[in-house]
Amino acid sequence: MGHGGDVITELTTDHQEVEELFTNIEELPAGDRQRKVYADQVTMELVRHSVAEEAYLYPAVRELVPGGDALADKELEDHAEAEQTMKDMENYEADDPQFDMLVGKLMTEIRTHIRDEENNLFPRLREACSPEMLNELGDKVRQAKKTAPTRPHPSAPDKPPANKILAPGAGLVDRMRDALSGRGKES
Ligand SMILES: [Fe+2]
Repeated sequence: MGHGGDVITELTTDHQEVEELFTNIEELPAGDRQRKVYADQVTMELVRHSVAEEAYLYPAVRELVPGGDALADKELEDHAEAEQTMKDMENYEADDPQFDMLVGKLMTEIRTHIRDEENNLFPRLREACSPEMLNELGDKVRQAKKTAPTRPHPSAPDKPPANKILAPGAGLVDRMRDALSGRGKES
């Protein structure tokens, strides 16, 4: 598959895409239906990003970065918090004041996460890893993000069947996470 830079470049590009979607939301007036469309896109991007980070980035951080366990634990906590906000957000339409409140909360959480990773975690990872390792991690992360939630035939044999992936009633966050990570892998 194509080589699109090392893991830090790859994940920083994700952050920029999410920030662009946040800006789109902020530029629209409260109640505009398009805000919900962008929020759903943000959710899909963020779940993809989180699953890839959890599968490959944080294990590498734990193994290679001094003090990496504490760093990874903190990031996982942040992910769990943001994920809850995204789940809550699914329940409201764009014209509901609760939606505005939750979008605002999510933006604050994610912007903090992004700053934290880019200013603290990424520099420390770069110091601890060879360029080859960072490239290799970049490939793995890209591969992990590629698995689309609606794809009917997951390529890996350990993935759940499509009827489980598309379980009715499950929210966007859960469907995405199940499809990307395989049900039962998460703690
Ligand atoms: Fe990130």
